[in-house]
Amino acid sequence: MSLESLLLNVKLVYFSITGQTKRFVQKLGLANKEITEANPFFTLKEPFVLLVPTYDEETTSVVNDFLEYQNNLQNCRGVIGSGNRNFAEKFIYTAKDLCLDYHLPLLYAYEFNGTQEDVSKVKEIVERLDHGN
Ligand SMILES: Cc1cc2nc3c(=O)[nH]c(=O)nc-3n(C[C@H](O)[C@H](O)[C@H](O)COP(=O)(O)O)c2cc1C
Repeated sequence: MSLESLLLNVKLVYFSITGQTKRFVQKLGLANKEITEANPFFTLKEPFVLLVPTYDEETTSVVNDFLEYQNNLQNCRGVIGSGNRNFAEKFIYTAKDLCLDYHLPLLYAYEFNGTQEDVSKVKEIVERLDHGN
């Protein structure tokens, strides 16, 4: 494995199509890495949390590519889903499906680029996981 593909100290890995998830991650102010169509094949050395918006499976399959790459799944501590509650029962189904398929916990759900309360809650969750709880 090349050194460049092995990321150290990344706490958050995210996918974003229209930039809302990216904005939320920026508000969290924690080390992060984006999954893109061009590069889903990178490896995390540290445990991380995955943030995903909700779209059809074809659009989000790149997230599956990332999770299935090398030991990424073992290092994934859980999933945070974002979406739009107007989609009713389809709210955050991408995150829910990933959790079912890969046996990961759903850690949190929020809409769009998140409120200040969402930011505080997700920071708490990541801190707690960092301390092994
Ligand atoms: C074409 C399209 C389909 C979407 N489908 C859903 C959906 O089924 N459920 C949901 O909760 N949100 C859905 N959303 C909302 C997005 O997941 C939400 O706006 C998210 O914050 C976008 O994140 P991003 O800007 O990082 O891509 C959809 C948005 C678009 C544009």
